[in-house]
Amino acid sequence: MRIDIITVLPQLLESPFSASILKRAQTKGLVEVHLHDLRKYSTNKHAQVDDYQYGGGAGMVMALEPVVAAIEDLQGQRNYDEVIYLTPDGTTLDQRMANRLSVQNNLMLLCGHYKGIDERIREHFITKEISIGDYVLSGGELAAAVLADSIIRLIPGVLNDGTSALTDSFQDDLLAPPVYTRPAEYRGWPVPEILLSGNTPAIEEWRHQKALERTQKRRPDLLKRQSSEEGGKI
Ligand code: ADE
Repeated sequence: MRIDIITVLPQLLESPFSASILKRAQTKGLVEVHLHDLRKYSTNKHAQVDDYQYGGGAGMVMALEPVVAAIEDLQGQRNYDEVIYLTPDGTTLDQRMANRLSVQNNLMLLCGHYKGIDERIREHFITKEISIGDYVLSGGELAAAVLADSIIRLIPGVLNDGTSALTDSFQDDLLAPPVYTRPAEYRGWPVPEILLSGNTPAIEEWRHQKALERTQKRRPDLLKRQSSEEGGKI
């Protein structure tokens, strides 16, 4: 997979991709992440990438021409499966969306800034608008890093244990069960005995039960979604 990110703040995105799993995924050749500085596409002598909004009002808009130039430059080099704009008014990111995007070949991410981008870019170039939650960040960069992380860890071979992404919270619409490590007893707090039993089927059943209980308690909406979808399939 290749991910191209267009941003006015490439330095903000350098560190998330230079450590741990995201770095290893690139070193292993499983993903390429390319950061593109929007200022390089500005024809303005001050490399300005913002402009006033028509109709007046506080707040600047990202300048139209550099954004289009950046998108078209990249599109001239390869086909993109999605051109994604990170914006608080987009569809909220969830595990299903990350799963779907993780099987694509080429993704382009555009990080929003200021009051956003000219609506005509959204209409003519953007294929998906994604929010990472109902709050407003100072720009789309951190959202792009979150989105890219959620996608990259799902690419086969990125995680050492091939099954570990499948047992994450939200896969199967369930939160993950509790986990324990050594020692078996700490300050009088024991690890549940079943986990020490070596009985793998019983442990799997226990984990499933705990995942259900936790989901019921904390996120009953996930279980409702599951049962309405099962109903829908019949
Ligand atoms: N830009 C600013 N806030 C954002 C959010 N919540 N999600 C995606 N992009 C954003």
